[in-house]
Amino acid sequence: MLGVVALGGSPSDAAAAQPASAVAGDPEAGAVLAGLAGCLACHTEEGGAPGAGGYALPTQWGTFHGPNITPDPEHGLGAWTFEDFERAMRHGRDPDGRFLYPAFPYPSYTGISDDDLRHLWAWLQFLDPVAQPDTPHDLNPGARARSVLGLWRMVGFRRGPFEPARGEDPVLARGRYLGEAVAHCGGCHTPRSGIGVPRRGAELAGTDAPPEPSPDIRPHPAGDPHAWSHDDRVTLLAYGMTPEGDFVGGEMMRLVEEGTRRLSDADREALARWWHSVPPRPASSADDR
Ligand code: HEC
Ligand code: HEC
Repeated sequence: MLGVVALGGSPSDAAAAQPASAVAGDPEAGAVLAGLAGCLACHTEEGGAPGAGGYALPTQWGTFHGPNITPDPEHGLGAWTFEDFERAMRHGRDPDGRFLYPAFPYPSYTGISDDDLRHLWAWLQFLDPVAQPDTPHDLNPGARARSVLGLWRMVGFRRGPFEPARGEDPVLARGRYLGEAVAHCGGCHTPRSGIGVPRRGAELAGTDAPPEPSPDIRPHPAGDPHAWSHDDRVTLLAYGMTPEGDFVGGEMMRLVEEGTRRLSDADREALARWWHSVPPRPASSADDR
């Protein structure tokens, strides 16, 4: 379902009737991708209209406020072309070429394929336009100038799209694409350095950083009694239930409900395979047995 979606009709017919940016893309596939990527979580304030912005995101750089991404022409993306959207998602730049802050997870989204970007763009057109101005970010003095981001990008950004590794198993590659580029599990579960770059060798090792502490979800070492099976992982992704029978809460349950639950079985299996493939936690951290 998340793969390439065939375009109905001939592209030239469609192009005659609509702006080029609206030609391709399936909004329903886009909705699943958006749920998995958590777009509305950061772009909707409590009780606010979906995508209209205002949500406060505390980080070590200060507090960001997700901007309005509804199709409103003045305050949202209504005047953007698909190319503008692609530049934001893949290159982390706004239509004027200014750097965007990596609080917007473009360092992950840069991996999203052209087809999936079109699906997301098609989905965005279905949000109700809301004429709500953006709330300014409230950043620490050292982070206020967007020019500092040029330096950050040299260490924190590698441009996509995602490519499977040479000889990589296609199911694993699909799972890695979903887990790293779209769902960016590491966005919440991987600890970061002082400048907000994911710490090497600590993928999915858990962090107490705001907005919510996120546990260590690395696989347990082989033979550990706490180790999750493949089916345990698939169940978590489908229902949000752990092997102990607890349900996850907060942002994680939202991700399950709006994203991983709605994936095809094949994509959920692939995501679970990738998750199992990240380097395990060291044996010493499992000494509670
Ligand atoms: C973790 C929070 C977070 C998530 C998840 C997130 N965004 Fe954002 N987004 C932000 C923040 C914060 C900004 C503002 C960045 C800046 O000012 O440089 C932003 C900026 C943007 C912009 C640029 C808007 C503008 O006016 O310049 C677009 C487009 C966008 N996001 C779309 C999306 C889409 C589509 C998704 C899902 C695929 C998404 N975002 C997911 C936090 C998030
Ligand atoms: C928006 C932030 C965010 C993202 C993205 C995210 N998680 Fe989580 N995750 C959390 C938080 C917060 C918790 C703790 C939830 C709770 O308190 O129940 C959690 C809990 C979990 C747990 C429960 C661990 C346990 O032992 O109880 C698992 C498993 C998990 N996440 C896996 C994933 C996977 C796999 C992905 C990517 C597909 C992912 N998470 C993406 C925030 C996130």
